[in-house]
Amino acid sequence: MEKITSLCKRRGFVFPCSEIYGGLSGIYSYGPYGAELKNNIKKLWWNKFVRQRDDIVGMDGPILLHPKVWEASGHTTGFNDAMVDCKKCKKRFRADHLVEETAGKDMEGDLGGMTRVLKEQKIKCPNCGASEWTEVRNFNMMFKTQMNSLDQEALYLRPETAGAIFTDFKNILDSMRVKIPFGIAQIGKAFRNEIVSGNFIFRLREFEQMEIEYFIDPEADWEKIFDYWLKQQEEFILALGARKKDIRLYQHPKEKLSHYSKKTIDIEYKYPFGFKELYGLAYRTDFDLSQHSKYSNEKLEYFDEEKKKRFTPHVIEPTFGIDRSILVALVAAYTEEGSGKEKRIVMKLPKEIAPVQVAVFPLLRNKPELVKKAKDVYKELKVDFVCEFDNNGNIGKRYRRQDEIGTPYCLTIDFDSLKKDDVTVRDRDTMKQERIKIKELKNYLKDKFS
Ligand code: GAP
Repeated sequence: MEKITSLCKRRGFVFPCSEIYGGLSGIYSYGPYGAELKNNIKKLWWNKFVRQRDDIVGMDGPILLHPKVWEASGHTTGFNDAMVDCKKCKKRFRADHLVEETAGKDMEGDLGGMTRVLKEQKIKCPNCGASEWTEVRNFNMMFKTQMNSLDQEALYLRPETAGAIFTDFKNILDSMRVKIPFGIAQIGKAFRNEIVSGNFIFRLREFEQMEIEYFIDPEADWEKIFDYWLKQQEEFILALGARKKDIRLYQHPKEKLSHYSKKTIDIEYKYPFGFKELYGLAYRTDFDLSQHSKYSNEKLEYFDEEKKKRFTPHVIEPTFGIDRSILVALVAAYTEEGSGKEKRIVMKLPKEIAPVQVAVFPLLRNKPELVKKAKDVYKELKVDFVCEFDNNGNIGKRYRRQDEIGTPYCLTIDFDSLKKDDVTVRDRDTMKQERIKIKELKNYLKDKFS
């Protein structure tokens, strides 16, 4: 992780938030290449799950929703994590994580039990070694804010994007020609006041999600649809460059399922800090639509014209975290090759998501005729590809920089190019070079990226 964190900072992928003021924990900025990578992942997702499908429509809801939304969904009362403080050093911990890591017990939800274990087993504070704990208590993870027109009533920054999908369900039903089964997809920010953030961009307080609520007939074969979505999610993970062996599934046992869920699976990835959740898939029954119907007094039903029946649709929810997707792409791509002076670090990102597609260099930076020709090639390619012109340092340094950014192709204009009107194209992964005529370059590259 240290190597990846340092590469991300050195090469403009991810920076700590407001670092000049000492940072803000659990919040990060995406730099120029991070922003490109993030956008490419979102594009890949939107294309696969919205544009290429006839049964899913997209939407873009707000971060601030009516406070009743979170009452109906159960977040106001139930979106809690258990926290405990060390009385000596005042450091705060997720009580369930602490008890599991130190006493090997899974006691999620049992506040009294966790308080007892921490005291009886004299569990030591991982920070200062003392064993003086406060009571374990619930902490609601929603960030509160206020709107001047709503009398003192708190608003919340949404803790998941799903809320707006359910509140707009009726509008979408009325305005689009959707027929069950169909899905509504959304990408956007979510905020959670996590008790402990960490592992770089894994557990954040401000993050982004890509979520689909897939509405089905209550009598449909939901297990089949569930399995289908699991495969779709796995396909997407592979498209980020992950290997199958680094993915595993964790099915929530019946007794630990949320009250509205009939089945939940966490898709886990083997990060450098171990297997942890990447995405989730849940069968949420009719919980959400029924609750919002109850709290809003609006009927959130669907009329099936063929079957002549009216019902509250059930929901299968595949949910994807963007920041964790980025972390997976970075972890899977990070490669060290060779050793000593020959060592190179290369980010073998899939071509579809690499932040820069093509870099163009003149072989020597102080030869105007090479620089001019390289700039001409760059301007021409820029129209169709994400391109970068690099004229800094020597050619070896430029290759090293582009390897660390993950640029699939580097083009060099040398003295032969002036005579033959061609360039050398270097492949990031094989480092093989071939000469391509400038007039054929666009088609050559289009083929490579198709
Ligand atoms: N609507 C369902 C929902 O929000 P979740 O499992 O709580 O389910 C969905 O969150 C996904 O959002 C997770 O699988 C993960 O990828 C991402 N996620 C959740 N909390 C996160 C956090 N604190 N930091 C970064 N990503 C997070």
